[in-house]
Amino acid sequence: MKTHPFVQTKIKVAIIGFGRMGKFYWEAMRKSGQWDIAYICDVDPEARLLARQMSPESRVVDNNRPIFEDESVQVVGLFSLANFRLEHIERAIRSGKHIIAEKPIADTMEREWRAVELAERSDRISTVNLYLRNSWYHNQIKTYIRQGEIGELAILRVCHMTPGLVPGEGHEAEGPAFHDCGMHYVDIARWYAESEYKTWHAQGMRMWNYKDPWWVQCHGTFQNGVVFDITQGFVYGQLSKTQTHNSYIDIIGTKGIVRMTHDFKTAVVDLHGVSQTLNVEKPFGGKNIDTLCRLFAHSVETGRRHPQLPTFRDSAIASQYAWDFFDNSLTHDLPAIGNLDTLEQIRERRRTMQNGYGLLHHNKIEPHIIHP
Ligand SMILES: NC(=O)c1ccc[n+]([C@@H]2O[C@H](COP(=O)([O-])OP(=O)(O)OC[C@H]3O[C@@H](n4cnc5c(N)ncnc54)[C@H](O)[C@@H]3O)[C@@H](O)[C@H]2O)c1
Repeated sequence: MKTHPFVQTKIKVAIIGFGRMGKFYWEAMRKSGQWDIAYICDVDPEARLLARQMSPESRVVDNNRPIFEDESVQVVGLFSLANFRLEHIERAIRSGKHIIAEKPIADTMEREWRAVELAERSDRISTVNLYLRNSWYHNQIKTYIRQGEIGELAILRVCHMTPGLVPGEGHEAEGPAFHDCGMHYVDIARWYAESEYKTWHAQGMRMWNYKDPWWVQCHGTFQNGVVFDITQGFVYGQLSKTQTHNSYIDIIGTKGIVRMTHDFKTAVVDLHGVSQTLNVEKPFGGKNIDTLCRLFAHSVETGRRHPQLPTFRDSAIASQYAWDFFDNSLTHDLPAIGNLDTLEQIRERRRTMQNGYGLLHHNKIEPHIIHP
């Protein structure tokens, strides 16, 4: 049969890990029409059952061997947890696959740097989902700063506090909140500063008397003199009747300022520069996985990584500093407020919540996903 010259071939991909994130990728890839989701792999039988129902065109498997043995698979999406990531990356590179990985790229720093080394020695294209870099709001702000509207960039203030994931709920392989989630904010500050971290001082709070601080604030400097403060905590009123959150970036230059805040539905960007004052409100855009998949598809088609895509090295650096800042908080006065009973009440509430911040997925059929 003759192929139509203008019909683009889809990129053959295998999804490994069909949890909350795996489903987001499945949905974005399917919607785009650019991907042939040939395999879905998960160790959990319920996740596989769901995959079969949602994606009858995919081969659903309980181990990754058929994926790495199938030479026609071009890309693997590594969306299980960090404890298996390095093993998956090693196998992917050995079998010549391009890689989209979730963060962090492994479960210890040593193994993350090993993943960086493997990726950098290979000709395969790889990226990691540092999702803020693919957001419309951070890109718009960065373009505005580059135009000189706020003068010289001087101060970066980043804050992300939600009534989100509490200790013991999952993601143990990814570390405490300041690492698991905070590494995104450590990364985005570095992305804005276009420099490496130089000095830092962190303060933590052992909320509910849990052993690790679940709220950390760190401030310090970059090598180019820009100063930063980053606040991250999943301690923001988990037992409040009506939950809310506080997430913003506040950037101060020598002449103007820019800031952004969002409610997970809409992001609002305020740009106060020397020649333009703008207030932009647009849909938040979630994890921007559609953008990541589109840029990655473009990279595979052209054989060159799109410059906007974060590298494994970016991820390892963010992870390293998130740990360094967290560890630094342990060296200072570290108060504990509250008690473990409250933490247990929070866990109980989150177990039964239908709609909340950062709830872990349950393998139930979600109607909007079945009929995207
Ligand atoms: N970039 C981001 O903004 C962002 C946001 C949330 C989570 N994440 C990361 O994404 C990853 C997945 O998180 P999630 O919330 O989807 O977790 P999840 O628990 O919902 O899903 C993980 C899935 O992987 C499966 N799995 C575990 N080991 C496996 C293996 N060896 N082979 C195949 N499947 C395996 C599990 O059964 C589960 O279905 C984590 O590393 C997390 O840190 C990133």
